[in-house]
Amino acid sequence: MSELKVGIDRVGFYTPRLYLEMTDLALARGEDPAKYHVGIGQDKQAVIPPTQDVVTMAANAATQILRPEDRSRIKMVLFGTESGVDNSKATAVYLAHLLNLAADTRAIELKQACYGATAGLQLAADYVRAHPDALVLVIGADIARYGLRTPGEVTQGGGAVAMLVSADPQIMALDAQSAYHTADVMDFWRPLDRTEALVDGRYSTNVYLDFFKQTWTAYQQQTGRTIADFAALAFHLPFTKMGRKGLRQVLPEASAAHQQELTAAFEASQLDNRNVGNLYTGSLYLSLLSLWRHGDLRAGDRIGCFSYGSGAEGEFYSGVLQPDYQRGFDDAALTTLLADRRAVSVAEYEELFQQQLPNNGQDVQLAVGADSAPYYLAGRQHQQRQYRHRMEA
Ligand code: CAA
Repeated sequence: MSELKVGIDRVGFYTPRLYLEMTDLALARGEDPAKYHVGIGQDKQAVIPPTQDVVTMAANAATQILRPEDRSRIKMVLFGTESGVDNSKATAVYLAHLLNLAADTRAIELKQACYGATAGLQLAADYVRAHPDALVLVIGADIARYGLRTPGEVTQGGGAVAMLVSADPQIMALDAQSAYHTADVMDFWRPLDRTEALVDGRYSTNVYLDFFKQTWTAYQQQTGRTIADFAALAFHLPFTKMGRKGLRQVLPEASAAHQQELTAAFEASQLDNRNVGNLYTGSLYLSLLSLWRHGDLRAGDRIGCFSYGSGAEGEFYSGVLQPDYQRGFDDAALTTLLADRRAVSVAEYEELFQQQLPNNGQDVQLAVGADSAPYYLAGRQHQQRQYRHRMEA
């Protein structure tokens, strides 16, 4: 009997319609623009208006991939985020309601910094292996905030990736083996009283590289595979230079010709992240989407994925591309989404940065006119976030 294939069936992506040019930010901060474009590897950064949070961004991503018949088959919603909107209630519950999912759905939020969506993906795959008729909706959605005039400012961004996990998937079947590694590390964290992360930036990049080395080695020992088995390696990309450093660690293990292929695949995998910025939990999945959209890949190609969440958890896993994998996402719609954004000035970005929903519990009515997304946040009433769908407004 052949083994059941389980993996990523469809993917949707959403980021708000505003962005900041990294040249403008560099000039405003007295930095050489080449530091941001080359040294960090970022060109544009998503700017998140107060009318979008992780719930609305996830709904805007998920609505692109859900067909009416899926709604009763989705048995779990696993929402990876480190930008949750409530200390108790899961973002997944708001999302399941906004998407009109059936009531016999488990809806849970997963937190481990940027690793949450990978945890969701692996739990979803195990669930579908046990329940092959089920679908699981996995989300990676975040708003990456470090603070104005901090070294991390150039690595902000935001957006949501929504993935449907199923048996016999359209895009990528996941290999059952993976290697993971956990250690209690204070490289990046966000205490309960803060809206911006605390980070030891250079230390965090070293821990990331160390976790990559550890999980890559363990994965090879576990599976017997080597770098020669991979058409591409995809990385968590808090900023694109980070993944480039990861790739450089293992490139010498490949032949000269294969090094060129892996490098070309990496270039494809970082194109969209370069123009959106950090998505925290969603970054690896935006990078995979970018690879599938822009890379020169074939069905049967094996892709290695490195996921990293500060604090810290790392995992190296792999998947195999399926025939007609391009049918699992809407390439043209993604191109339009990114092309139709509006550039904001540094002054406008700084104003929007300060305008996120204040943590004072007071009623707020947001100016929603400028936000054309299907799902948006209208404000807060009696301590409850007011989510709206444009059709119902
Ligand atoms: N032209 C070209 N390159 C230049 C340059 C110029 N004019 N000036 C500087 N550079 C290069 C530097 O040589 C350096 O390159 P290398 O890293 O290859 O040596 C690069 O630009 C960055 O320069 P600095 O190290 O001086 O930059 P910095 O001190 O201002 O901060 C940072 C860099 C530490 C990454 C900072 O942006 C930061 O703290 N970011 C947030 C933390 C982070 O993303 N960590 C990643 C691992 S943690 C994680 O992955 C989870 C997560 O999502 C948060």
